[in-house]
Amino acid sequence: MVRELISEEDIKKRLESLAVEISKKCTKNVLVIGLLKGGFVFTADLFRALDKAGMTPGVDFMRLSSYGSSKESSGEVLLSGNVPSDVEGREILVVDDILDSGRSLAYAKSIFVERGASKVMGCVLLDKPARREVDITADFIGFEVDDLFVVGYGIDYDENYRHLPYVGTVE
Ligand code: IMP
Ligand code: MG
Repeated sequence: MVRELISEEDIKKRLESLAVEISKKCTKNVLVIGLLKGGFVFTADLFRALDKAGMTPGVDFMRLSSYGSSKESSGEVLLSGNVPSDVEGREILVVDDILDSGRSLAYAKSIFVERGASKVMGCVLLDKPARREVDITADFIGFEVDDLFVVGYGIDYDENYRHLPYVGTVE
């Protein structure tokens, strides 16, 4: 059973204010890099909210994984497929679903720094500060959550629940 933690309506409202925050700190044509798979729903909705906030962003995706099929992270971040090209000299906003140990966001950001991006920022829907193992914070955070295993809004448990329009916890 999934217990709702953050409603569809609350996510929508928060995305509007988050997009305004981003529009104040990023260049208009920032390149949004969504991390797959978990970040795909958040990236798509945030991308449209950025338009409403007056921005003209670009978008690309990169696939990372660390969880496999368990509720505990393997502790190793794997990159599958290609890294977006043409990032040299560009301002990048890496977008992910959850900031947990911090390894995924730190790894993704390091890739773009190495490839010569002019600035690399991070945006996550959910932050679980209690779980951090790497010294990193996101520049933009949708919601802070307790140390609970969450699903929905693109986020899975063994590939289930990604379709839920809200964020909940599996009980
Ligand atoms: P990190 O590298 O430990 O920060 O992990 C971030 C990634 O782990 C996220 O992008 C998610 O894909 C996954 N993850 C972390 N916490 C959860 C959770 O509660 N439910 C499902 N996936 C999670
Ligand atoms: Mg992920």
